[in-house]
Amino acid sequence: MTTPVLFTIFGASGDLAKRKLYPSLFRLYKAGHIAENFAVIGTARRPWTKEFFEQTVIESLGNLPDNPRQAYEFASHFYYQSHDVNDTEHYVALRQLQAKLGQQYGTQENKVFFLSMAPEFFGTIAKHLKSEEIVNGKGFERLIIEKPFGTSLATAEKLNAELAETFEEDQIYRIDHYLGKEMVQNIFAVRFANIIFEHIWNRDFIDNVQISFAESIGVEDRGGYYDHSGALKDMIQNHALQVLSILAMDTPKSFNEADVRTEKIKVFQNLKKQTNEEIKRNFIRGQYTDGQIDGHTYAAYLDEPNITENSQTETFAGGVFFVDTDRFRDVPFFFRTGKRLTEKGTRVTIVFKKATDIFGQHAEQNILTIYIQPTEGFSLFINGKEVGSSFSLTPAKLSFRHNADALGNSPEAYEKLFFDVLNGDSTNFSHWEEVKASWTFIDQVVRIWQENQVPLHLYPAGSMGPQAAFDLLESYGTDWHWKPDTWYRERGLL
Ligand code: BG6
Repeated sequence: MTTPVLFTIFGASGDLAKRKLYPSLFRLYKAGHIAENFAVIGTARRPWTKEFFEQTVIESLGNLPDNPRQAYEFASHFYYQSHDVNDTEHYVALRQLQAKLGQQYGTQENKVFFLSMAPEFFGTIAKHLKSEEIVNGKGFERLIIEKPFGTSLATAEKLNAELAETFEEDQIYRIDHYLGKEMVQNIFAVRFANIIFEHIWNRDFIDNVQISFAESIGVEDRGGYYDHSGALKDMIQNHALQVLSILAMDTPKSFNEADVRTEKIKVFQNLKKQTNEEIKRNFIRGQYTDGQIDGHTYAAYLDEPNITENSQTETFAGGVFFVDTDRFRDVPFFFRTGKRLTEKGTRVTIVFKKATDIFGQHAEQNILTIYIQPTEGFSLFINGKEVGSSFSLTPAKLSFRHNADALGNSPEAYEKLFFDVLNGDSTNFSHWEEVKASWTFIDQVVRIWQENQVPLHLYPAGSMGPQAAFDLLESYGTDWHWKPDTWYRERGLL
């Protein structure tokens, strides 16, 4: 189905627009979800011409188009408007362009606004969109907003109040690009479409859950932003808690947007509040020093560009959440994320309770792993019998994994998310109640860390984080099931 729509992208010259947004819009175009009756207004401060903008869009598409003509036709729908977000006159010009393009392309007054800019401008833009009647109550009007949504509960509340002057909650689509990932969506299928899992997805059968978001890259050229954020706010407050909410939610009454949302929000609201002492024990922060992987030397965080001298910003965050529901009370949900870890990999490991030993043989715990990226798929460890006349147990791994990029068939997260916005489906976006509850929790950890009540552990680039993150799991009687560092070490690569 084709949706008539006018997109306005604030931050059109930015990296995200070029890397993700234009290619994703193109994929939607190629799939026929947007066609003749769509247009895109790109705005940014730079004085670009339409020709230059079109060229930028075409270049961003790489080899996605079937032929040059298809790329040109797509790019011809793009218009550029140089824009200062504080200048009211510029919004007047924007309204005029919007009206003209609306007529020309028959977009039926449907509008999607995408804010891909520094968050301090979000409120100003939203205010002007209303005062200058760019948002005018005609057609559908939806706002897509990039992270970070605030940097604390107080700033998130302020931002939300500013947006609420112009948009209702159901018009606001807060991006968490992890929710657009194929395998994160697949968690619904694994959990709810398999009788073998659906009935054991609870504290009676699950011992603990481990969520790893490992990155091998450092902070690259994002030091200016990252040094003020750190791993906890950059990855845990949003991505990790969103993934956790899908893992921990109760079965929704039905699989529609409202019912799924209700259950997700319940998880956020039932995140068990931990005492300060518990937080000090249960949340680990780390920062990378220089290190070697496979003969390559990587610089320490403190030596990266745009990092303040002696910065105490964490590039690693690990810890444990509990969800205080009948389903999961007291089950640890361990998480870890970090820059410059051994290997890039996002995966969820569900560790089931130990089975009874049989015939004097020790049974290993069943383990289900959901691979989110870079490979996608699942594996399941089960106990089998070793071939031979004696009875010996041996774990067997059932595995279904593929490299999504190589197959090229998994939609890019932004493509999926744009598609949902066009359909008015906000299931895969962060609701305000979720954001609010996550900041309430994270603020407490931030305060304890800022007051230096716990050490900032150093870890060498290439490792899987500080020893403290391993000790934490040991203190709960378990260990990280995924051990890429061991694999590297055994082969002399670390
Ligand atoms: C972003 C963070 O939200 O997610 C980055 O700001 C991080 O620091 C990125 O690198 C990871 O996303 P992905 O899709 O590459 O796993």
